[in-house]
Amino acid sequence: MRIYVTREIPRTGLDLLSAHSVGVYDGRTSMIKAFMKEAIADADALICLLSDRIDAEVLDAAPKLKIIANYAVGYDNIDVAEATRRGIVVANTPDVLTDATAELAWALLFAAARRIPEAHKLVREGRFNGWEPQLLLGQDIRGKTLGVVGAGRIGARFAMGARGFDMKVLYYNRSRNMELEAQTGATKVDISYLMHEADFISIHLPLNRDTKHLIDVHQLVRMKPSAVLINTARGAIVNESDLITVLKAGKIAAVGLDVYEWEPDISEELLKMENVVTLPHIGSATYQARNAMAELCAYAILKVFAGEIPSNIVNREVWLNRR
Ligand code: GLV
Ligand code: GLV
Repeated sequence: MRIYVTREIPRTGLDLLSAHSVGVYDGRTSMIKAFMKEAIADADALICLLSDRIDAEVLDAAPKLKIIANYAVGYDNIDVAEATRRGIVVANTPDVLTDATAELAWALLFAAARRIPEAHKLVREGRFNGWEPQLLLGQDIRGKTLGVVGAGRIGARFAMGARGFDMKVLYYNRSRNMELEAQTGATKVDISYLMHEADFISIHLPLNRDTKHLIDVHQLVRMKPSAVLINTARGAIVNESDLITVLKAGKIAAVGLDVYEWEPDISEELLKMENVVTLPHIGSATYQARNAMAELCAYAILKVFAGEIPSNIVNREVWLNRR
């Protein structure tokens, strides 16, 4: 069988596929669409990145494709309906990056609340002149209210951290998460209430038609002036232009971003603001998570080649249609 991988990923995954013919793109940026279409013309399986847009045009170029394994948990980059229509399995990488991403959200929360990047820069630039009563004051965390937007795997794991800081937890989610409520005393609330009440707000939703621009100017202006917003999910859940407007007006204290609406582009204004911490989409970037993600992609492909259903399939209906 032929497998194409749109970027070098950890060996742990590729080694599992060694019985097959594996082609790997050796570029240093995302593949150009025309080039990808050519590269996957006779591929039976594809491992792609969240930065690869897999739409009908790309799928038309790969008539033999049986499975798309997305090297990410979010799969908004793939037209899943089109894949399903063509009988192609779509798989992602859940669970293995839950800790890594939840932990990065906490890192961003602390970095934004305590102004770590500004402080680091000050020292490196030789501007530390000794202890000062008013130097780089930030926000206390213990005992505050945490607002968790999306209580799936990552959001719930992130919320568990609140126990260590005696925080009250509010969450916004389609359904109740009873386990989260039992473990943290969390309360399910609507988004407007959460935005208004929480001191720290962290986004953990998938991007889709319902969640795009969920956090727009109407929600952002509800935030307390001392509140901090963290996004490690997908940029477009927040209306980035609205966020800039609200930040410029000084309506919120700080923001920590790992994702952007127009990735890899980042709005110039965000890069100029000292109270915006900016990371380069590294939520799952730990050795453990990335190795496990590569393995999960490989196992899903081997399952499909063996005529079996991978546990990490996202379009189960494709399998039912086959029977
Ligand atoms: C990263 O953003 C992912 O979806 O895995
Ligand atoms: C700070 O370093 C303190 O001792 O209060």
